[in-house]
Amino acid sequence: MSMEIFGVDIGGSGIKGAPVDLERGDLAQERHKVLTPQPATPDGVAGCVVEVVEHFGWDGPVGVTFPGVVTGGVTRTAANMDKAWIGVDTASLLSARLGGRPVTVLNDADAAGVAEMTYGAGRGRSGTVILLTLGTGIGSALFTDGHLVPNSELGHLELKGHDAETRASVKAKEDGDLTWGHWAHRVQKYLAHVEMLFSPDLFIIGGGVSRKPEKFLPLIEGIRAEIVPAELQNNAGIVGAAMAARGGTP
Ligand code: BGC
Repeated sequence: MSMEIFGVDIGGSGIKGAPVDLERGDLAQERHKVLTPQPATPDGVAGCVVEVVEHFGWDGPVGVTFPGVVTGGVTRTAANMDKAWIGVDTASLLSARLGGRPVTVLNDADAAGVAEMTYGAGRGRSGTVILLTLGTGIGSALFTDGHLVPNSELGHLELKGHDAETRASVKAKEDGDLTWGHWAHRVQKYLAHVEMLFSPDLFIIGGGVSRKPEKFLPLIEGIRAEIVPAELQNNAGIVGAAMAARGGTP
């Protein structure tokens, strides 16, 4: 029997969602996307989440990702979002705006990670696995024998006196007009630092760049762990959000 739950991915530029087929770990219908309002306040974004969910006439449980720390449904940080999110009970806010439907909220990289561990590049992998999403910021999901340690926030490690995501994210590559080689060197330094701390068996690299792994993965040297691109690419967040909503609050 196929089981569907709705997943929504809140990002700095877009809010996208679709019903997810949890048997296949894929979208059950083509996703719907709306642009993130600027400023991306809780109220404005909540309206967009409602729009995405209602586009499908969905009335069951909803899982939602957020690009910051989330504990017990409360958004705690907002590095690349409006600071008004800090301290908001986002799960309750969205549930109220969605007419009382149950809503589960989790970190965006954690969502992508649980999806990859079940349906993608981390399938069947034990030991320590770290998924890193390289995008506007750097998100992380840390697993030990398939169990998630939520909100690891490895994107904010210090790298040469800087917040790591300001050096090694895709935004840093674009803002600095860096060549693939230059950027790969920074990613290598970053991975070496994460490896020093956690000695993972596997790194999974997600985010938009996971579609062009040949541009930078061959340039990365001296990392002991295996490094592979994510497989679910830009639907991982939506799928992981739906998985979290099925399982209850992580
Ligand atoms: C946030 C993380 C998030 C990552 C990717 C970082 O700036 O602190 O919570 O997972 O960006 O969106």
